[in-house]
Amino acid sequence: MSTKDQVVIFDTTLRDGEQSPGATMSHAEKLEIAGLLDDMGVDIIEAGFPIASDGDFAAVSEIAKQAKSSVICGLARANFKDIDRCWEAVKHAKAPRIHTFIGTSPLHRAIPNLNKDEMAERIHETVSHARNLCDNVQWSPMDATRTEEDYLCRVVEIAIKAGATTINIPDTVGYTAPVESADLIRMLIEKVPGADDVVFATHCHNDLGMATANALAAVEGGARQIECTINGLGERAGNTALEEVVMALKVRGDIMPFKTGIDTTKLMHISRRVSTVSGFPVQFNKAIVGKNAFAHESGIHQDGMLKNAETFEIMRPEDVGLTETNLVMGKHSGRAALRSKLNDLGFELGDNQLKDVFVRFKALADRKKEIYDDDLIALMRDSAADEQGEHIKVKSLRVVCGTEGPAQADLTLEIDGAEKSTSAQGDGPVDSAFNAVKALFEHTARLQLYQVHAVTEGTDAQATVSVRMEEDGRIATGQSADTDTVVASVKAYVNALNRLIERRKMGSVGYDEKSVSYKDAG
Ligand code: KIV
Ligand code: ZN
Repeated sequence: MSTKDQVVIFDTTLRDGEQSPGATMSHAEKLEIAGLLDDMGVDIIEAGFPIASDGDFAAVSEIAKQAKSSVICGLARANFKDIDRCWEAVKHAKAPRIHTFIGTSPLHRAIPNLNKDEMAERIHETVSHARNLCDNVQWSPMDATRTEEDYLCRVVEIAIKAGATTINIPDTVGYTAPVESADLIRMLIEKVPGADDVVFATHCHNDLGMATANALAAVEGGARQIECTINGLGERAGNTALEEVVMALKVRGDIMPFKTGIDTTKLMHISRRVSTVSGFPVQFNKAIVGKNAFAHESGIHQDGMLKNAETFEIMRPEDVGLTETNLVMGKHSGRAALRSKLNDLGFELGDNQLKDVFVRFKALADRKKEIYDDDLIALMRDSAADEQGEHIKVKSLRVVCGTEGPAQADLTLEIDGAEKSTSAQGDGPVDSAFNAVKALFEHTARLQLYQVHAVTEGTDAQATVSVRMEEDGRIATGQSADTDTVVASVKAYVNALNRLIERRKMGSVGYDEKSVSYKDAG
């Protein structure tokens, strides 16, 4: 699949990314993201960890059935039960892959309590078993960058002899640095017998902010598969960001002459969708997909840009799928115009969905004269969020606040079809409104995060609010947008509660509850 000058893109948003606490996605969301990855030209999609839960298994199986071009990969620890379960899920794909791994560094070897020889034997058995099921097998020595070099060479050789077709070298704790990352891959390719017959992959975490640099350096060293996630989603500081490595290779082909098969014009849309469904906002100054990545605010920059865009721009916004943020629509815009604008922004709508979005658009246009692309994107987020089970709906909210005394919220919710109203006080408008939600719908969920962003400029701008809640180890994130920050806050809160209720009902699963953790690698 990879050639000398082609780098294979392996996306693990749905596995490593989804393991990030709070980033849990629903079944439908996982299918949607997998479809977008496939359409964008991702070579391999790591769709999940099938043994982790029934939900993961179902998602990987369904993604495997629906995949058009991408290879579909599932993760499995180094035991037959995991590998069999993984195969059961991925075998439906036109091109399936089993990815099995074990922690090989001294610290990780201590977890299953295996000595070096016992672990070598386990690797031989499990990779051979995987290869008997599937002719596309990836093997990873977890924490490779902290594994003794001679032992790493030994186990990589064993995995190749047992039939692994891709050897992935993970920097599990984000410890390595670019020079070391390149040297490690180069050393393995030079020293390990059989290395020329397999593809070497790099899998970097971003704990020291070097994941992109380390992945690109690994390519310099001979790796031809980069493992990455959209928006760099992932545990702790996340993984290598797909959009960063892909655009770095595209823009700096002069010094890194490697191609990928990614249609970069789809990057912006998928970034927004992953941000929405994971509930992890993209930081404004994030490379490639951040709101400010192509904004030229200062006078000097603007002047330069007017004369020649290349003065301050090394890539064009349209290369990553960013259409110009113009004043787009107003209250007189019709349904066809809305559909066409949303298509430009990457949203394909069925007739019923368009009907619903049009009603929301009209309501927004009544309150906000000028509607920009970002407003429409926020509106789409809002409508997607409302589809997440509607046990609780906000019917009405009125808040009185000011310099005198506590704020008071009068709130009516519809809870499973029955309307309930109350008044509650609090320390400011949001606190009083949240207290009213708690009074109407008692719960033990704890608020972990409350974040507000203005979607556009101006005092009538919509606010996007993200709320993360935790209950008995389950984590759910809610989002909403409204020109009224307090309304957006309550809707986001209710949206997070709806997601928690759904998860409680399904008996599934935030990362913490998964029946097994990928970290007990034995
Ligand atoms: O970071 C890591 O080591 C992993 C492995 C499971 C490949 O994600
Ligand atoms: Zn990882």
